[in-house]
Amino acid sequence: MAWLLPRACCLKVFCQSSRGPFSSGIARAWSGGPLTAYMPEAVAFAGSRDHPGLYKVSVEQVDEFWGALGRSRLMWINPFHSVKDCNLQQGWVSWFLGGQLNVAVNCLDRHVHTAPNKVALIWEKDEPGKEVRVTYRELLELTCRLGNTLKRQGVKRGDRVIIYMPPCPLAVASMLACARIGAVHTVVFAGFSSEALADRIRDAQSETVITVNQALRGGKVIELKQTVDQAMHACPLVKRVLVSMRTEQKVPMSELDVPLEEEMMKEDVCCEPAVMESEDLLFLLYTSGSTGKPKGLVHSQAGYLLYTAITHKYVFDYHDGDIFGCMADIGWITGHSYVVYGPLCNGGTTVLFESTPVYPNPVGEPINTEAWEWYFNVVGDARCLVVDTWWQTETGGICISPRPSSPGDEILPGMAMRPFFGISPALLDEKGNVLTQNNVSGALCISQAWPGMARTIYNDHKRFLETYLMPYPGFFFTGDGAYRTSQGYYQLTGRLDDVINVSGHRLGTAELEDTVNQHRAVAESAVIGFPHEIKGEGAYVFIVLKKGTDVSQERLSNELKELVSKKIAKYASPEYVQVTKRLPKTRSGKIMRRVLKKIVEDKTDELGDLTTLDDHEAVEEIIEGHKRLL
Ligand code: WTA
Repeated sequence: MAWLLPRACCLKVFCQSSRGPFSSGIARAWSGGPLTAYMPEAVAFAGSRDHPGLYKVSVEQVDEFWGALGRSRLMWINPFHSVKDCNLQQGWVSWFLGGQLNVAVNCLDRHVHTAPNKVALIWEKDEPGKEVRVTYRELLELTCRLGNTLKRQGVKRGDRVIIYMPPCPLAVASMLACARIGAVHTVVFAGFSSEALADRIRDAQSETVITVNQALRGGKVIELKQTVDQAMHACPLVKRVLVSMRTEQKVPMSELDVPLEEEMMKEDVCCEPAVMESEDLLFLLYTSGSTGKPKGLVHSQAGYLLYTAITHKYVFDYHDGDIFGCMADIGWITGHSYVVYGPLCNGGTTVLFESTPVYPNPVGEPINTEAWEWYFNVVGDARCLVVDTWWQTETGGICISPRPSSPGDEILPGMAMRPFFGISPALLDEKGNVLTQNNVSGALCISQAWPGMARTIYNDHKRFLETYLMPYPGFFFTGDGAYRTSQGYYQLTGRLDDVINVSGHRLGTAELEDTVNQHRAVAESAVIGFPHEIKGEGAYVFIVLKKGTDVSQERLSNELKELVSKKIAKYASPEYVQVTKRLPKTRSGKIMRRVLKKIVEDKTDELGDLTTLDDHEAVEEIIEGHKRLL
């Protein structure tokens, strides 16, 4: 990322490291000054004389705080009549009720009105040194032509549109075109395999896919259209595939396929924005959970947009004229919130990064203290604050981050530190008691609704309730563990469920197990995450073979890696495959994953209580096999 720096002295780099579990960013230090200059709405808030006062207002006078920001920061077609109607206990969350708006108008038209020639996107192409600048006027035109193309092809309000593209201006225009016509976009990371793509297309019941002929990443050509063609065999509902030409290479086109640029050229540069309710769906984004099936998290219009705009502004101290660079792919929530919606809602110039941070030279790694120091001193030239931001696909935007804070407040390496405006974190013990003191660890929950949170899982509200709202009634459960330091700062300690984070990509171990179990030789499997120096976490697979099968560990390992790449994605490919005669189980037949985890982490002296273990020899055998494998 360092090669981006000379371009602009005030560049803010927000890096979701592709090689580690952490997302972080660099923001200019806030110089202080009057609170109302910092947040003009503060004039109206009683009790907000200083920064801690402002945070207190945000969590105690929730309607006043978000109501004022909602009115002043978003452009409404019709104003909202109530700020919120939320009940985490019952599982409903609505913000800005009665309000009508269009997200694309908020991200484009209003800025075209004031600064049409301001650069909206700087597309850093895969080839180093090649960049394309797109102004707000141009992006609006692209979006309108694309919106009209979608309408002409039969896409209607509420329809789900799959966007299977690498970061490029047309991908952003596709997202905004959906928002403009009231369709629901579902960006699928372009590294996903045809089967993973097909699963998502089917779950979203989508009839429309937008893709590119070929993608370029790290100097390699990726045949994206071919992957879509393969997925089509399993997606009979799809009626149209819009194909953009990222390279000049012609690809076979079937009767489903529509040449995107050609069609766009025929369309008008004006496209009437749809009048959307605050709680209409804006997008679905699939993410991994602790069961095999990825879940399509639903984000809605107004609350999400406001939350991304406010976090973008205050976490990164964004100011008019800044160039904001977030290195995430648009296929993940970070790309949605901090490449597209937050910066564009604020009228900023945002960098679209097509390549990977490890091309042409590797630079990324997890943000441990050493990396933090390097990032601070080398990338940020010791002038910029490093903000280690904690959040999730589910939260829509950043929830815990060192900023915003009072001027001069400390920032410590390696922790996310303070809750953002409107966020009330709580740590709960196993019995569901709220831990009120400091210097404690517990399950990280959030005790009241905030505008950016996901509203449900597409077509599966029950799963949404079971996963997030029922484990600790009255709280949103994040799935993460956290430690609150003696000073009251938050430090994330890792997932409490079976989700691992490989090179910044979330992966459910159950999803991996479902996949490896499809191999003809596999009777049973257990996938365990282990700390990986470069990737943050890696996957370690234990396999019990079917009786009578004869396959070498090496061959099986290669076949399973290939299978996972094909069924999920390359990044999901396991690091180690260990064949064993049996897995350690309780007498009731549950796999004792904590035992496997300790073995994989080489902590065999910490195996803990083994009284419920069915077969002690199984553990010995696995320890021996593990030693041989390394
Ligand atoms: C992890 C990415 C440590 C966490 C924005 C969370 C973090 C998951 C941090 C969400 C952080 C995110 N420190 N761990 N600052 N931020 N995580 O949905 O386990 O792809 O639950 O969203 O990443 O991953 P997701």
